Amino acid sequence: MRPDTFFDHAPAGTLRLLQITDPHIFSSTHDRLLGVDTRDSLRQVIERVNIEKQPLDATLLTGDIVHDEGNEGYTAVRDILEGLPSPVYCLPGNHDERTKMALLDHGNSHTDKQVLLGDWQIILLDSVLENEEAGFLADDELNFLRQALEAHPDRHALICMHHHPVPIGSAWMDSIRLRNGDELLALLDRYPRARGVIWGHIHQEYESRRNGLHLLGSPSTCIQFEPGNDDFAIDPQPPGFRWLALLPDGEIRTTVLRVANVAATLELGSGGY
Ligand SMILES: [Fe+2]
Repeated sequence: MRPDTFFDHAPAGTLRLLQITDPHIFSSTHDRLLGVDTRDSLRQVIERVNIEKQPLDATLLTGDIVHDEGNEGYTAVRDILEGLPSPVYCLPGNHDERTKMALLDHGNSHTDKQVLLGDWQIILLDSVLENEEAGFLADDELNFLRQALEAHPDRHALICMHHHPVPIGSAWMDSIRLRNGDELLALLDRYPRARGVIWGHIHQEYESRRNGLHLLGSPSTCIQFEPGNDDFAIDPQPPGFRWLALLPDGEIRTTVLRVANVAATLELGSGGY
């Protein structure tokens, strides 16, 4: 018999979501990120997800999908994502090339900016600032967000992007956060149906609340950064993912899980990536 899992005690009508982030896939099968085979690491995460045999409504892939130039990384990642039991909605990170994101509109993978599911809407924003590691939500993105919230006042909203809108207590990482996070949060304050913001980029677990809004960052499917460190430092924790239960009354229940082992080849003393 299957053991109890995270979603088992959620009420009827709950949406079951998976967040995966920052897989940093390379075009070549030979390249490694600080010693890690990122394709293999993503496959391990998907295997771990599938152990629980959850009937998922959606997967959210929150950026840094491909680490280098070339189309091959995008076609490789979408093949790997076919292993997930739900549609995968993808948004770009600072390592991605916007023009290549369309390659992810294929099979199980999608680049929709808005998904309506049950009592919820999921809004996927592009926070990438060209040639910068930091992020910014341009007027077009903020207007899209505002219009989506106005158009569906009866739906709870989960907002997804790559960059973190609040400091996480790590100086090097906070210097490359969303530059107009305060503007985003001021906008969301006006829409109480906005229930949560999730992001990638920080390669670590983060959770806080602000005026009833869940603020959630998730570990990467490959390498992790050490929480609380003001300088770049690799954390030896294994790759992970986040479950999100979106309840019909607007509550969000969430937890992070990790694969059993970190890659033995991880270069822990590295000064950057
Ligand atoms: Fe990343």
